[in-house]
Amino acid sequence: MNALTHRSPRPGDHPDALAGMRADVLHALATKPRRLPSKYFYDARGSALFERICGQPEYYLTRAELEIMRGHAGAIAQALGPDVLLVEYGSGSGMKTRLLLRHLHAPVAYVPVEIAHEALLDSIVALAKEFPHVEMLPVCADFTRPVALPRPRRAPRRTVVYFPGSTLGNFDAPEALRLLKQMRAEMGRDGAALVGIDLKKDRGTLEAAYNDAAGVTAEFTLNMLARFNRELGADFDLSAFRHRARWNALAGRIETHLVSTRAQAVCVAGHTFRFEADEAMLVEYSCKYSPGEFALLAARAGLQATRAWQDAGNRFSVQLLEAAPRS
Ligand code: AVJ
Repeated sequence: MNALTHRSPRPGDHPDALAGMRADVLHALATKPRRLPSKYFYDARGSALFERICGQPEYYLTRAELEIMRGHAGAIAQALGPDVLLVEYGSGSGMKTRLLLRHLHAPVAYVPVEIAHEALLDSIVALAKEFPHVEMLPVCADFTRPVALPRPRRAPRRTVVYFPGSTLGNFDAPEALRLLKQMRAEMGRDGAALVGIDLKKDRGTLEAAYNDAAGVTAEFTLNMLARFNRELGADFDLSAFRHRARWNALAGRIETHLVSTRAQAVCVAGHTFRFEADEAMLVEYSCKYSPGEFALLAARAGLQATRAWQDAGNRFSVQLLEAAPRS
């Protein structure tokens, strides 16, 4: 089976997860303006499409962040110090994590927090081979909720929360603030967080990154509806919705919508929802920050950026956050 093959829900999947998705989608469609949670992009097909987005010439984010990690992993590891318990929110393809683990001095354990079972196990299997002396402690959970961290066999010197990929950008300001506060609580007084953020830049570059010429991002966005058809038995007509991603300069974010191209009715789990022509459903925010704006947000969460690394083109930034001294 190749990565893009249809994947129906399997017995191994969380039954609660399916019920939760059904409830979220029914609620989202019943509320106007409609807004669907971005986390539903990432079924097996969506994750594979996201990997393809990362390889598109317009999507500079991944290359810029990898450039930073390739160039500065040594300095980052130096700043984090030895005997780290490395917690990662989400689990990507693992390249950035590998670069970090290779440079860290005697890391105690790696704790990926990921809701998708399969992705979680895949990341652990590959890393366990390369890092036999790092204890692997996967946690299957939604990282947007506080998680109880597992206790490693060897005592760590500090806990570091790694949140790469500009994933923080998917949360609006109040949610991002909540998440940063949660990270601060999880890492403790002597901990640290390493957060990848995409920097503000011109509209042309930003909009191109979310509207690649090959149409992979459009396919990724529409896959959310395909997923609801597969897993919830919905009947979205994929040819009657289109992807739209625009830079909202005032709000400082790319806003991605699925736009109904005509008046239509859609059936989801026995409920009918009507769409007007040109009605737009919000599916994703990708917030961009200036270093100063990010520093302000971090400060509101009781954190301060003690170091930051950028790529040569100043497109992306990896920020080291530590607890701000109490004043
Ligand atoms: C992985 C969530 C950071 O917002 O840039 C890429 C997802 N969406 N293209 C982003 C995404 C459309 C990506 N994040």
